[in-house]
Amino acid sequence: MGEWQRKHLLGLKDLTREEIEVILNSAQAFKEISEREVKKVPALRGKTVVNLFFEPSTRTKTSFELAAKRLSADVVNFSSSGSSLVKGETILDTLKNIEAYSVDIFVIRHSVSGVVFYLSQRTTSSVVNAGDGQNEHPTQALLDMFTVREKLGSLENLKVAIIGDIYHSRVARSNIWGFSKFSSSVYVCAPKTLIPKYFDNLPCKITYSLKTALDQAQVVIMLRIQKERMKERFFSSQREYVKYYSLNEENLKFLPPQALVLHPAPINWDIEIASSLKEKVSPLILEQVNNGLAVRMAVLYLLAEKKSYEVVD
Ligand code: CP
Repeated sequence: MGEWQRKHLLGLKDLTREEIEVILNSAQAFKEISEREVKKVPALRGKTVVNLFFEPSTRTKTSFELAAKRLSADVVNFSSSGSSLVKGETILDTLKNIEAYSVDIFVIRHSVSGVVFYLSQRTTSSVVNAGDGQNEHPTQALLDMFTVREKLGSLENLKVAIIGDIYHSRVARSNIWGFSKFSSSVYVCAPKTLIPKYFDNLPCKITYSLKTALDQAQVVIMLRIQKERMKERFFSSQREYVKYYSLNEENLKFLPPQALVLHPAPINWDIEIASSLKEKVSPLILEQVNNGLAVRMAVLYLLAEKKSYEVVD
């Protein structure tokens, strides 16, 4: 297995295929640990991880906390609400003051693209991007890739369809960079208004037809309509969106029977996916959540130790 050299994990755009494989292989070893009766290893004993979340999160925040604890690190969870940010302290001063406790790794989520990169350039600690605006959410794409590799045995030469609110999605961008490094064809599918023009220059194919996206796809990633980021109307009505882009019993027939349906969650049932498919799609989506823990253990370990993790019995 290769060695990890980077100080930060800010996105998948700049990672090589080999670096992605180092993370996924380490995550495989950590998944084995999470299946043991005692789910804890001393790998990061004495290290300090701080989760700095300036935007809401359920899965990413809890899994980074649990990942740090299972690695025996000290972990602090910071939320912007209730902090001195409300008294006017800047984000950089907040980071610098917490850094004074000799923090090894900051895990940062922020609603503005680029803020995580900005902070990473101004701290001596390692930084993990836990989602910045519309830019990247690398650990989400890594857990998606981990799940696909586990189920299909390979990430190569797949057709991956990403469907939904592409415009606001950092998950779409990270998955485009990730899957395309394994020679997989990534299709993005949405109404024209939800696909930015610059996607012409990304390693993906654009379609406005759900049937074209689903046809022969081995992997489908459904994306949430991010109403909280929509300052203007992107489609004429929710009913119209659902008619053309929601996954339901009818259009599921366009997919091969073994296709994987993923969703980063939270899910708006009956908008992205019909609630009649809940029982069918939920088990794999919850497996994604579980895999997120292993992937985040791997990322924290690699950033702290700069070497791959292999299970020794
Ligand atoms: N998928 C994801 O990032 O979920 P949270 O916003 O709950 O962390």
